[in-house]
Amino acid sequence: MAVLPILHYPDPRLHKVASPVQTVDDSIRRLIDDMAETMYQAPGIGLAATQVDVHRRVIVVDVSEHGTALQAFVNPVILTRDGEAEREEGCLSVPGIYDKVTRAERITVQALDRHGESFTLEAEGLLATCIQHEMDHLLGKVFVEYLSQLKQTRIKSKLRKRARSTL
Ligand code: NI
Repeated sequence: MAVLPILHYPDPRLHKVASPVQTVDDSIRRLIDDMAETMYQAPGIGLAATQVDVHRRVIVVDVSEHGTALQAFVNPVILTRDGEAEREEGCLSVPGIYDKVTRAERITVQALDRHGESFTLEAEGLLATCIQHEMDHLLGKVFVEYLSQLKQTRIKSKLRKRARSTL
């Protein structure tokens, strides 16, 4: 397994749309393993392939306290959405920035697992928020795009400044 470099907003590659996985083969399983290692090392509770510059529909999530409940979703699709919840979000691609986003409180998601088997999961609370946040990445959308234009401009200039100062 390997820790992969994570793209940082406003990198334009974060806005690429991921394509569906045709076959869940060893290369996809290796991607899932590498993404999990990258997420745990960061540390974070979710990661989309887009964030490591692989534009395929794969996300990994683990919202458990001690990182013992890894879930991988290949070609995830949300079948149902229910209710609304506002939760403070952060993102490994937008380090140090946290803000509130409103999303569905409960979702039903269908996906393939690491063996290519289809499964359906009902998720609510933090897990539901996290899955929706990661699935947005696959569409090229970063959570700050839900914020006001003013906030987005401030966040961009803050992150650009920070990127320059670490050169
Ligand atoms: Ni994110």
